[in-house]
Amino acid sequence: MRVLGIETSCDETGVAVYDTALDGGDGLLADALYSQVAMHAEYGGVVPELASRDHTRKLLPLIEQVLGEAGMARGDLDGVAYTAGPGLVGALMVGAATAHGMARALGIPALGVHHMEGHLLAPMLERKAPAFPFVALLVSGGHTQLVEVRGLGEYRLLGESVDDAAGEAFDKTAKMLDLPYPGGPRVAALAEQGDPARFRFPRPMTDRPGLDFSFSGLKTHTLTAIRKLDAAGELTEQGRADIARAFEDAVADTLTIKCRRALDQTGLKRLVVAGGVSANVRLRQGLDDACAKRRATAFYPRGRFCTDNGAMIAYVGAKRLAAGERDETGQMQATPRWP
Ligand code: KG4
Ligand code: ZN
Repeated sequence: MRVLGIETSCDETGVAVYDTALDGGDGLLADALYSQVAMHAEYGGVVPELASRDHTRKLLPLIEQVLGEAGMARGDLDGVAYTAGPGLVGALMVGAATAHGMARALGIPALGVHHMEGHLLAPMLERKAPAFPFVALLVSGGHTQLVEVRGLGEYRLLGESVDDAAGEAFDKTAKMLDLPYPGGPRVAALAEQGDPARFRFPRPMTDRPGLDFSFSGLKTHTLTAIRKLDAAGELTEQGRADIARAFEDAVADTLTIKCRRALDQTGLKRLVVAGGVSANVRLRQGLDDACAKRRATAFYPRGRFCTDNGAMIAYVGAKRLAAGERDETGQMQATPRWP
């Protein structure tokens, strides 16, 4: 099946075509992304109404572009997959309506997929793809979860954040440090100049058993540290970098400790890391070390498939459509909150 994938859940318009006949790293025929990040940066975060309007402007031209790059006509498609949630409802509806409109016109099936399942299986697009079963760490702006993955659709939640997601904590820390949106990569870049020995921030919830996370206390700790430095007249560029470094180390360490625990508990030897925060280099170092000590292997999506993209949606949609799944009663689906 050659399936068009559409991602419009937040501030990236992503489109791709996946061919299930090729698989094994070759299935992705083409993909393209239009990022709205610059537009929202002016407001310090995503403005939902602007996001929907921009998806409306960019989606159809992007679909034409991707089909052109794949050397395909619309009539060559066997199905359309789109992100049905979770996400911003207006933004989701642009993708859902476009997918169902195309599917109706072409007489092919449409299927809404879960955004986080897309992230979860994004490493399957790589030539070095993990075999099932594996432990997955999902770390994005909205989620921090550990999942045991036995196969497509066979997921068991091992633990998750009881408050802020890791990416959210990065974004909030960026704001406290006067860094522009989106904050994660900016905090990471600033941390490069930081002295790791100057501060040590807490590793929340690592002193007790279990696989849940909490990042809101760390956020408060960071704010207190910033205020103290400011009061002492030491909130210089170096001071800000030292705080960024302490924060990044605390998040990377906390995530690594829980991943170690999840591998030990399940006895599994493969760890998949996905979602925007999986682009973080220090986190990758920690996880690679932890895996090496256990003779386990860590798998990551390539850089541009760590954050939101159409390829992961095309992949999951293609697999599910090929297995016979369809949107029930042919209705489009836009589910802003979808556990
Ligand atoms: O998966 P994603 O693109 O969107 C969501 O579904 O949330 O993740 C975006 C999140 C943001 O919070 C962003 O700050 C964070 O991932 N992020 C990073 C890095 N790159 C993106 N956080 C830390 N280090 C990075 N290099
Ligand atoms: Zn995402």
